[in-house]
Amino acid sequence: MLKIVVCVSGGGTNLQAIMDAIDSGKITNTQILAVISNNPGVKALERAEKYGVPGICMSPKSYPDRAAFNEAFTAKMCELAPDLVVLAGFLVKIPEQMVAKFSGRIVNIHPSLIPSFCGVGYYGLKVHEKALQRGVKVTGATVHFVNEGMDEGPIIAQKAVMVEDDDTPETLQRRVMEQAEWILLPQAIDDVANGRLTIVDGHVRRNAKD
Ligand code: GRF
Repeated sequence: MLKIVVCVSGGGTNLQAIMDAIDSGKITNTQILAVISNNPGVKALERAEKYGVPGICMSPKSYPDRAAFNEAFTAKMCELAPDLVVLAGFLVKIPEQMVAKFSGRIVNIHPSLIPSFCGVGYYGLKVHEKALQRGVKVTGATVHFVNEGMDEGPIIAQKAVMVEDDDTPETLQRRVMEQAEWILLPQAIDDVANGRLTIVDGHVRRNAKD
């Protein structure tokens, strides 16, 4: 049984996709231990409560400095001891010490086709604003393992989404979530839970279909 902790910051639609996939059997062999949010009172925590998993709020603003938050956040994750940490719309940089302790066991969903529109400053709606400003005709989402960089870890899977001429950042964000994020992240969790992925020379390889 793959035990996961899901980290969120806001609406929790990616969290909801994971919970729905577990309920429908699209994700097997997986249990959500807890949901951690860096923001209090967000919809993601309501979704966790409704689903019956512990919701924990750990806000950097509640600590004297970022180092203290990083230490507390890492200690809490070690206490929970998940097999996999899932970043689902989580907008806080993962502490180096957590990356080290959970090396190869943290996945993130990013709302673009990495390496486009990623890295420092590219999160949430900003990603789609930049894609529209650049005039790309295809965008999408990427699920990847997290390393010490920002959106630089080994890519697990990507899914393309067409950009429409009349798109706004909001309409594009919604389409990317519906057509890519909510599909890619559950699939990646199921792949990890069922041993389908291996990292070879920094690249993710899919094992022969079980
Ligand atoms: C969205 O911008 C999504 O594209 C990104 O995180 C943000 C919130 O997602 N992955 P969620 O609804 O909180 O899962």
